[in-house]
Amino acid sequence: MRSFLITITRDPVGLAGAALTTASALLFVILYGIALVGLEGRGPYLGIVTFLIIPAFFILGLLLIPVGLWRERRRERLARERGEAPPRFPVIDLNRGTTRKAVLIFVALSFANLAILSVGTYKGLEVMDSTAFCGAACHTVMEPEYTTYQRSPHARVKCVECHIGAGADWFVKSKLSGSWQVVSVAFDLYPRPIPAPVHNLRPARETCEECHWPQKFVGDRFKVNTHFEEDEANTELKTVLVLKVGGRQAGLSQGIHWHVDPDHVVRYRANENRQTMFEVEMTDAQGTVTRWKGPEADSPEGTAAPWRTMDCVDCHNRPTHVYRMPGAELDAALLDERIDASLPFIRREGQKALEVEYASHEEAREGITRAIADFYAADYPDIARDRADAVGAAGQAIADIYAWNVFPTMNVTWGTYVSHIGHPDMSTEVGCFRCHGGEHMTEDGEMISMDCDTCHSILAQQEENPEILQTLLD
Ligand code: HEC
Ligand code: HEC
Ligand code: HEC
Ligand code: HEC
Ligand code: HEC
Repeated sequence: MRSFLITITRDPVGLAGAALTTASALLFVILYGIALVGLEGRGPYLGIVTFLIIPAFFILGLLLIPVGLWRERRRERLARERGEAPPRFPVIDLNRGTTRKAVLIFVALSFANLAILSVGTYKGLEVMDSTAFCGAACHTVMEPEYTTYQRSPHARVKCVECHIGAGADWFVKSKLSGSWQVVSVAFDLYPRPIPAPVHNLRPARETCEECHWPQKFVGDRFKVNTHFEEDEANTELKTVLVLKVGGRQAGLSQGIHWHVDPDHVVRYRANENRQTMFEVEMTDAQGTVTRWKGPEADSPEGTAAPWRTMDCVDCHNRPTHVYRMPGAELDAALLDERIDASLPFIRREGQKALEVEYASHEEAREGITRAIADFYAADYPDIARDRADAVGAAGQAIADIYAWNVFPTMNVTWGTYVSHIGHPDMSTEVGCFRCHGGEHMTEDGEMISMDCDTCHSILAQQEENPEILQTLLD
C-alpha cells in the first residue's frame, strides 16, 4: 500500500489525479452535508454540482492515477535502461520539527481553501438561480422578457421555475443551450427577436400545475372589459361577458378547461410558431378518437409536423411575458387614470403616437411626449396652457406603454409576441380560433364548435351604459 502511494504520487499526473480525487471527495461530503441540512435552495444547481460535476472530477482523478502509474513505470524502465537510478522526490521526514510544521500548515490551508471553495460554489449557484441573473445578466437580450415579467401576475415566480427543470437531463439541456447562449451573445449571433414558442420549456405538469390545480373547478367567470372610443370625449364603453372557464365538477368536465382534463387528450399538429393548426385530435375517456383536419393538413409541411398534446401554455402562452397591443394598453391606462380621460381625443392621439417607429426608448419618450404636447398646443391651446400637467403626465404614461412593449434593439414590436387567450384580433391574434375558427372538419364534415355561446355569454358589447351593469350595481 505504501509503495503504491509513493509510486502514484511520484508522477505529476498521478499526483494531480490523487489530489483531484481527494479534493472532490471532500467537497462532495461538504456539499452533501449542506444539502442534507436542507440548504439546497429552490433551483436544481446545487444538486447538479454535488451529484454531477464533483463526481465527474472524482472519476477524472481516479482515471489519472493509473495514467500516472503507467508514466512512472515507463520512466523507471527508461532510467534502468540508461543504467541510472530512477528519479526521486525529496524525502519528507516527519521526524523533523520544521517539516512537521510545514505539513500541518499545508493541511490546514488546504482545508481552509476547501471551505472557501464550497461556500463560494454554493453562493455562486444561488446567484445563477436568481431572477436577476436570468433577467438582467445579458441586459439587452432579456430586457423584453424581464420587463414584461415584472408587470405580470407571476412576477414573484423565479425564471428557473418555469424554464429549467430538476434533474440531470435538464441540466445538460439547459447548460448546453446556456453555453451556446453565451457564445451567441459574445459573437452577436442570437436571433432578434428570440423566437417563441420555447420548445424546451418545462412541461406544464411540472410548472403551472405545481401551483394551479388543473382540475380545480373555476366555474363561470364574470368579466367586464372597458374600452375607450377614439372620439373627442374618449367615450367609455363596456363589454360584459360570462366566460365559461369550467373545469371538473362531480366527475364531469366542462367549459374551457375541459381541454386539460386528464380523462381525455387533445393533440394537434401545427407549424413552427403554432399559429396554423394542421390537424386536431381528441381521444375521450372511452378511447374513441376524433380527428379534425384544417385546410393545409395534407400539405407536405402538414403531414411532417409532429404531434403535441395540448396543455396550459397552448392557451396561456403569455402567463408572464405579457405584451399588449396599443389599444389594450391605452384602455387600461385610461381606466387606471394614469392618463386623464378628460383630455379631448387622448385615446386617438395616444394610438397615433404609439404607432410611430422609434430607434430607442429614449427617442420614443421624447417623440411621444412632444407629439402629445404639440397636438394640444395646436388644436386646444387653452388646455395646453391651463392643464399642462395633465398633458405632460399623459405623454409620460404613453411613453411608458411604449417602453413596456416595444424593444427596438431586440426587434420586438407590437404584435411580435401574440397571445392565445381569446381572439383579441382576428388578423393577428387569432387565439382560440386557431382551432375554433370553423376551418377544421372531421371526415363527416363536423367542425370544432365555433358557436359564440360555447365559450361565453355576451351580456353587453361595447355599450356606453349597459343595462346589465345598471341592474347589478344599483
Ligand atoms: C410562470 C412561468 C414563467 C416564468 C416565471 C418565466 N417565464 Fe419565460 N416563458 C414562459 C412561457 C410559457 C414562455 C413561452 C411562450 C410561448 O411559447 O409562446 C416563455 C418564453 C420566454 C422566452 C422566449 C421569448 C418569448 O417571450 O416568448 C424567454 C427569453 C424567456 N421566457 C425568459 C424568461 C426570463 C429571463 C424569466 C425571468 C425574468 C422568465 N422567462 C420567467 C414562462 C415563464
Ligand atoms: C410558483 C407558483 C406559480 C406557478 C409555477 C405558476 N403560477 Fe400562475 N399564479 C400564481 C399565483 C400566486 C397567481 C395569483 C396572482 C395574483 O392574483 O396576482 C397566479 C395567477 C395565474 C393566472 C390568473 C392571472 C390573472 O390575470 O388573474 C393564470 C391564468 C395563471 N396563473 C396561469 C399560470 C400558468 C399557465 C402557469 C405555467 C406556465 C403558471 N400560472 C405558473 C402562482 C403560480
Ligand atoms: C383551452 C384553453 C385553455 C387551457 C388549455 C387552459 N386554460 Fe386556464 N383559462 C383559459 C381562459 C380563456 C381563462 C379565462 C381567462 C380570463 O379570465 O380572461 C382561463 C383562466 C385560468 C385561470 C384563472 C382562473 C380564475 O380563478 O379566475 C387559471 C389560474 C388558469 N386558467 C390556469 C390554467 C392551468 C394551470 C392550465 C393547465 C392545466 C390551464 N389554465 C389550461 C383557457 C385555458
Ligand atoms: C373557442 C371559444 C370562443 C368562441 C367560439 C368565441 N369566443 Fe369570444 N372570447 C373567447 C375568449 C376566451 C375571450 C376572452 C375574454 C377575456 O379574457 O376578456 C373572448 C372575448 C370576446 C369578446 C370581448 C372582447 C373584448 O375585448 O372585450 C367578444 C365581444 C367576443 N368574444 C365575441 C365573440 C363572438 C361574437 C363570437 C362568435 C362569432 C365568439 N366571441 C366566439 C372565446 C371564444
Ligand atoms: C388545438 C386546438 C384547440 C384550441 C387552440 C382551442 N380548442 Fe377548444 N376545443 C378543441 C376541440 C378539439 C374541442 C372538442 C370539439 C368540440 O367541442 O367541438 C374543443 C372544445 C371546446 C369547448 C367545449 C368543451 C365542452 O364542454 O365540451 C370549449 C368551451 C372550448 N373548446 C373553448 C376554447 C377556448 C376558450 C380556447 C382558447 C382560449 C380554445 N378552446 C382553444 C380544440 C381546441
